[in-house]
Amino acid sequence: MLETVAAPEPNGRPDGVWSMNTARAESGEVTVAGVPVSLIAAQFGTPTYILDEADMRTRARAWVEAMEKAFTSLAGADVYYAGKAFLSKAVARWMMDEGLNIDAASEGELRTALAGGVPGSRIGLHGNNKSEAEIALAIDSGIAHIVIDSIPEIAKVARIASERGRSAPVYVRLTTGVHAGGHDFIQTAHEDQKFGLSVTSGAAYDAITQIAGTPGLKLVGIHSHIGSQILSTDGFAEAAKVVLDVRAWAAQRGIEIPEVDLGGGYGVRYTSQDAVPPAPEEFAEVLAQAVRAHCDATGLPAPRISIEPGRSIVAPAMMTLYTVGTMKDVATDSGPRRYISVDGGMSDNLRPALYGANYTAAVVGREATGAGCRSRVVGKHCESGDILVKDVSLPPVEIGDLLAVPVTGAYGRSMGSNYNMLPRPGVIAVRDGQCTVLLRRETIEDQLAYDLG
Ligand code: LLP
Repeated sequence: MLETVAAPEPNGRPDGVWSMNTARAESGEVTVAGVPVSLIAAQFGTPTYILDEADMRTRARAWVEAMEKAFTSLAGADVYYAGKAFLSKAVARWMMDEGLNIDAASEGELRTALAGGVPGSRIGLHGNNKSEAEIALAIDSGIAHIVIDSIPEIAKVARIASERGRSAPVYVRLTTGVHAGGHDFIQTAHEDQKFGLSVTSGAAYDAITQIAGTPGLKLVGIHSHIGSQILSTDGFAEAAKVVLDVRAWAAQRGIEIPEVDLGGGYGVRYTSQDAVPPAPEEFAEVLAQAVRAHCDATGLPAPRISIEPGRSIVAPAMMTLYTVGTMKDVATDSGPRRYISVDGGMSDNLRPALYGANYTAAVVGREATGAGCRSRVVGKHCESGDILVKDVSLPPVEIGDLLAVPVTGAYGRSMGSNYNMLPRPGVIAVRDGQCTVLLRRETIEDQLAYDLG
């Protein structure tokens, strides 16, 4: 069935996929937090990512409140915003304001969070192949924890810590064997992939024993991340049990592990035909039940729990605004189709090409009326797979129309590229009628500046 979007219905409404402050003005034009999209296009150009600040903050706070509520009677909980979904200095600051910490997965993310004013003690560092520089910076900044992802990394982190005369707080990333999540590329807890230390093979137990006996390392937690775009609570409960069993195994050997991180991966709706994912309260309650049941059964003190949501906080808060440049109608075996070309493409949203992800689109610069036409929104790159929205019913669109694709906040800009030497779009935050440039649009001059001839 084709996705039809007549008017943006703010997220939170039964069929809504647009950020909560998206509305259609009487003029027929769409506004975000009171700012007409045509004004954003005129001032900042297109394509541009528009971030509804209040929406993102609200989603972030909802996770903190849900986790606090579910875990008060246990040992409490922390929420780390997964910066890989989308990070800028302002976003890092907002997340801190809302009571979250930051999960960084590279030196760039770590330095952005620090530059945004987040203290190292509120940042965790991930990565399956961390560089010396990343580990050193993490330790120097007083990082909350470094997540150990492989056996050789144990000695590497210990050495770098001792060179700096400090001890390093570490987590161990466990591969729990739980299958969950969207596309194969975003499932992370099966055996045959690059992340983590296997519980099944025993590597996880070896790592724990080794870390406990390594001076300069402080084992503060164990970690599991099962995948991304997960729309059910089952996998999380299952993975939590595996992780807590490992913790109990360690306790029997005198190794106390005070913290457990259950990762991110909470899914969102991309189109109004997608299932509505469980709310943060529901996920939090499932996690708390798993922890409570395990502690009751083992008699162990409850661990402090953390989670790392990224997508569920930022995806629905952002849309990408494009200008329609040209069109063509084709005949296909299944009927006519209109190709609508916009001024961005797979360089600002790789997800459809990489994962076959579905999105929707709407004409947002005016109230477009007329019979829906089976349409495909494509970019301007030199690939026929440069598709942004595979199938959508759109009213007659005109060249020059502003078109928006909602729910692009997670992994849109952060996986963006300069393919075909397109400058990456800027990110404009909108709140209470005011626009703030979070990331300025790149220019061709930026690209020429690092081409040294
Ligand atoms: N924690 C760890 C260790 C992770 O690897 C990830 C995501 C997260 C947290 C955050 O997961 P989220 O809540 O955002 O699902 N580029 C893909 C998603 C890759 C996810 C990578 N890791 C996509 O666009 O679907």
